[in-house]
This record gives sequence, C-alpha cells and structure tokens, in this order.
Amino acid sequence: MNDSAWARRPTDHEIREVLVAGRTQGLLGEADTAVVFHDLDLLDDRLDELVAAFPPNALHAIAIKANPLIEVLRAVVARGCGLEAASFEEVMLARAAGCPPDRIVFDSPAKSVAELRASLELGIRLNADNFDELDRIIELRPPDSTSIVGLRVNPLVGDGSIPTTSVAGAASRFGVRIDRVVDGLVPRAEAHPWIRGLHHHVGSQGIAIDAHAAAAAATAALRDRLHDALGRPQFDTVDIGGGATTDYVGEGPTEPAEFVAAVSAAAPSLFAADTVLMTEFGRAVQANCGWAASTVEYVKQSSEGDIAVLHLGADFLMRPAYQPEHWQHRFSVVDGTPGAGPPAPWIVSGPLCFAGDIVGRSVPLGAVSAGDTVVVHDVGAYTVGMWSRHCSRGIPLVLGHRRAPTGEIRFDVLRARESPEDVVRFWSADPFGHQVGSAPR
Ligand SMILES: Cc1ncc(COP(=O)(O)O)c(C=O)c1O
Repeated sequence: MNDSAWARRPTDHEIREVLVAGRTQGLLGEADTAVVFHDLDLLDDRLDELVAAFPPNALHAIAIKANPLIEVLRAVVARGCGLEAASFEEVMLARAAGCPPDRIVFDSPAKSVAELRASLELGIRLNADNFDELDRIIELRPPDSTSIVGLRVNPLVGDGSIPTTSVAGAASRFGVRIDRVVDGLVPRAEAHPWIRGLHHHVGSQGIAIDAHAAAAAATAALRDRLHDALGRPQFDTVDIGGGATTDYVGEGPTEPAEFVAAVSAAAPSLFAADTVLMTEFGRAVQANCGWAASTVEYVKQSSEGDIAVLHLGADFLMRPAYQPEHWQHRFSVVDGTPGAGPPAPWIVSGPLCFAGDIVGRSVPLGAVSAGDTVVVHDVGAYTVGMWSRHCSRGIPLVLGHRRAPTGEIRFDVLRARESPEDVVRFWSADPFGHQVGSAPR
C-alpha cells in the first residue's frame, strides 16, 4: 500500500466527520450554502515529505497563486518552506505570512521599476524574465542589497497536454530561450557576481515527468557552459519551478521521491551540495488538501440529463467551467440519500447566470435530491485564488481542519465568509476606505 501523503486525500468518511464536527461546533450556519475546507494535517505531511526527498539545502518556494490565503501560507512557512510570488501583491502576502525575505522568490513577467526597487530593498530573491528586466535590476540594485538574482530561461522542452498552462514551447512568452542565454548573460554575470541564479518552469499540470527531467538537464548543461565561459562557478542557485502533476480524476500523483529520482538522474549536478536547488510547486502540494461542500439547491431536468444546482460554479472552478476538456474534478454526495442502482450521470451546475456555468458533466452521483450535500474534491489550488466576481457572489467561508491526538477535529477560520454587504462594499467607489474617488460632484 502506498502511504505517501502525496497519494492521500480526505476520504468521504473523513469528510463526513469533519462536516459533522463543523456543525456541532457551531461553525456552519444557514448562510453557509457552500464551504471550502483545507486539510492542514495533510498539507504538513506533504511538505515534510517534499523537504525530506530533496537535498537538505533545497528551498521549496510554494507557489502563492495556487492558494493565497495568508493562514495557508503561514502553515507553509512554518514547515521551513518559502513562497513563490507571481506579483508584488503576492510578495506582500508572503511577508504578511511571516516568510523571511530570503525565502521569497518574485517571478512575475511584468515587474515594474517600483516593484523591483522595493524587492531589492527587502532582499527578496528575483528571477528576471528577460535581459531588459535584468538590466533594470542592475541599474536599481543598491550595493548593500541581499537579493539573489536569477534569469528565467525557457528550456525549450515542448508543450505539455494543456496549451494554456504550458510554457516551455518555442512560442512561450516567458524567459529567455535557452539557446540565446550565454551571449547575453556572460557579460552581465561577469560584471555582477550577485547574478547567481537560473530558473525555468515548464508548465502547470499536464507536464510529463520526463519533461521536468529534460528541462533540468538542459538548465544544468547551460550552467556548465556559463561557468566555462566565466571561468568560475557562479550560478549556485537553480530554480526548477513547479508543475508536478496532480491527481484529480486518475492522472496519478507525482510523489516527491519519484520526481527526485527522475530529475536527479537527468541532472545530478543540481543535487550536489554546492547548489541551492529551488522548486516552486503549488498545485501538487495544495490541490488534494482542499475540498468544498455545497448544498444542492435544486434538481432540474434538461434534454441532456438531470442537473444538480450547486452554490459553487465558474466563480470557484473557473478552469473546469471554461476548459472542461482539460480540467475535471471528482464529486460525491456525502450527506443525502444514496441512490439504489448504478450511479446516474449528472450534470453539476453552478449558480451563475450563464449557460456555461457547468462544473461537471456525466458525473456518477447516484440519486441526488435538493438539500443534499455534494462535495467537490481536490479544490485546494487555483480555486479560491482564482475567484471570479461574475454575478457578485461572495467567497464562501474557508476552514482549515486538523485532528488532535485525541481524535477531536479542530478548525481554524482561514477566511470568513463574505456577506452580501461585503460584496456591496467591494463594488463601491472606495471599498477599502482610502478616501479616494471622493472628488466634489
Ligand atoms: C513560474 C511559476 N512557478 C510555479 C508555478 C506553480 O505551478 P504548479 O502550481 O503547477 O506547481 C507556476 C504556475 O503557473 C509558475 O508560473
């Protein structure tokens, strides 16, 4: 039996126990027609396994965009990991979560001068997306900045199975093509020894482990060429990005040990003691830790099948709604009357007012009635963090859960439910009280 935390996710039985505990402890009220949960024990176990599989000086900067809740980020930092920021706002989230600056890496492809200046002052790690940005950094960097600076490289290993999240093909708009790095990087690195990093990211989901291995081999070979040209070893930091495959509907999880075996065989030098190897996993760490429960508000019939109407739709599951051919989730009924006979295929619809708000097709759910609770599994990544304001529904309550040694289930509020009043404030001229937009009429 595989007891890796990366192969584990909350079972329907555990989910029922958590729901009962949440109700008993008075955390779930009538307005909580949908609630999102994050299994913080599982998150800890996954991070511990990740850390254990890599060399001791590796730095795992977990991608904030996968789950930007500060309490989740705090749990990540508490395990000794760092955070990868895709915007300056995410840099601020990392700081709010107590992440030391040397464990934050800022990777956006559109960093402004002001954002670069602030990051260099804070000592945040930076990966420049291109030579123009590297030149800006050279110009802006105060001599006493502790920021370690790297260059993002496109390893050109080709696209994975999902075009919109693949970034290592020839058409990618991220990083400098690997075959054009040496000439531009050598003179800059020669003059500025603090340019010490190389970074690549292949894509998110749909990336075969062989592509990760090929990218690592390409970046390791590039580093050798750079060192030959410089006549000294300088690039001691290699950040191999994120993108380990996550198991949603049978893709199979990528376990850290398996990932390390494949990548270290292809690029052993990246695993040597003189290298700080960085990763930026997001989805593979977080997705399976999260699940969401929604009341079935109505059951309807259409010419294409029976429809269960949930309180979570394209606002929460944007990719499954807009690209169902690539993104699917498992659903189960955890609170209701299990139907007799073979599970009927259901259409699972969200609450939004457009035809495409379908988050599951041909879902085998058994009998479903209004008032039942349906669980959407594996929603711990790219869900709350991609929340859409279409139709202005409030973000549901997000609860973290852990099991005490006594067996008792304990909750942390990771984010309180947005009320209709909160949403009205959100769409007002000055939702955050900045005293702007109050010009005389
Ligand atoms: C540069 C970079 N690093 C890391 C990630 C995280 O990828 P994943 O969540 O698939 O691990 C992304 C996601 O798009 C990214 O663009």
